[in-house]
Amino acid sequence: MCYAIPGQVKAINDKTVVVDYFGEEKRAINDLINLNIGDYIYAQGGYVIEKVAPAQALEVLALWKETFFELQEVDVRLSKLYFEEGYHDTKLSRILDRALERSSLSRSDLHYLFSVEEKAANAFIYKCANFLRQKYLKNSCCVHGIIEISNICSQNCFYCGISSHNQQIKRYRMSEQEIVDTALSAIKDYGFKALVLQSGEDSFFSPDKIAKIIREIKKQAGVLIAISFGEIGFDGLKTVYDAGARAMLMRFETSNPLVYSRLHPGRNLDTRIAHLKRAGELGYLIMTGALVGIPGQTPDDVFNDIFLAKELNAEMFSFGPFLPHPNTPIAGYLPWDKDKIFKVLAIARILDPENAKILVTTAFETLHPDARKEGLLCGANSVMLNVTPAKYRALYSLYPNRAHVSESINSQIQDILALLRSLGRAPTDLGVSEKIFLMEQSITEGAL
Ligand code: 5AD
Repeated sequence: MCYAIPGQVKAINDKTVVVDYFGEEKRAINDLINLNIGDYIYAQGGYVIEKVAPAQALEVLALWKETFFELQEVDVRLSKLYFEEGYHDTKLSRILDRALERSSLSRSDLHYLFSVEEKAANAFIYKCANFLRQKYLKNSCCVHGIIEISNICSQNCFYCGISSHNQQIKRYRMSEQEIVDTALSAIKDYGFKALVLQSGEDSFFSPDKIAKIIREIKKQAGVLIAISFGEIGFDGLKTVYDAGARAMLMRFETSNPLVYSRLHPGRNLDTRIAHLKRAGELGYLIMTGALVGIPGQTPDDVFNDIFLAKELNAEMFSFGPFLPHPNTPIAGYLPWDKDKIFKVLAIARILDPENAKILVTTAFETLHPDARKEGLLCGANSVMLNVTPAKYRALYSLYPNRAHVSESINSQIQDILALLRSLGRAPTDLGVSEKIFLMEQSITEGAL
């Protein structure tokens, strides 16, 4: 994973470049920019997104040098592995030993991890997941921004508050200019290096229109753009990739085909998975996952969801709780308990220690106010901030009372930077524009 600080190009091999960050080397794909050894660049999600002038790069690196190593030390300290004194569970220890040795776990092991309820046992499972995250992925944490460009949707998903059957919400659609301006402000004013553009399945935003918007943004700024517009067709995927999008966020929602068809009238799981596979073949980074706790879903289904996300080579796993929305056919169905959701994140990390960025979703933060901090301490290493213009945010009501819905971008950034600092994590995807760095300094004096 690349950091949101400039790296220096050390080697170039066709489209792959080796980038140095204070002595740590990462690889990134360069298919957009003319580069030479010694150049400074920003890379995101394994893609080079921008070349930086050496003077500017050196200035940012000078600001970061000490902090970079300090953060790593804090992270290592917080990721130590130990059993709470006085607690012993031989079976759990054996399973986790195997996880730490990278031997595969059986279904019954997974069931055991999922079903133990003692506080000390869960604490140990989370520590183990956090230890694996630290060991293989170090302290970087993705901080993407998301812009919700329209809540108009042609689909009828039974859980979703913006689905077409909800006649009680006001619909909105941002104009193309508004989208471009919002994205550019997120990049230039706030330092975001990766943005997700999301909407309901709104046919107004044809692949050609999306492509035009992406071209316009990329013409004016270096950024990794992820699309999240649902199933836009194979040709659509190609059109948008050619315009410069390099990631796709689309959950398969559940790997159980029966549960899938019950909740998505007129849709089937195979088509959804085919889209994800096609996107992967085209070169998109895949961000995918499932809802956790939907009607009909069993723990086994959730384990299968994690295996499917892995099989799809997902760069980012997005697993979050189902939260009932009052204007949907499953309004009365209760969400799973927060501890089960933490368990899913931890098991996902145990099953994929080396690759996935695991997201703490806004839905999880809505279910449980400490989900972000606790989630980052049980294997997760990714968050998304909402950069949709304030006037639209509440209308994007996938579920009620969404966390952060009325928080300014500034305050969301301050909160995440303070949290990451306190946990010893370095934000990726959120650069250190001067404005942010100054803001960060003013809050960290008290945070560390
Ligand atoms: N609870 C939680 N997540 C939801 N989503 C839609 N409705 C809900 C809900 N009621 C999620 C879906 C979709 C993403 C954009 O929002 O998983 O993929």
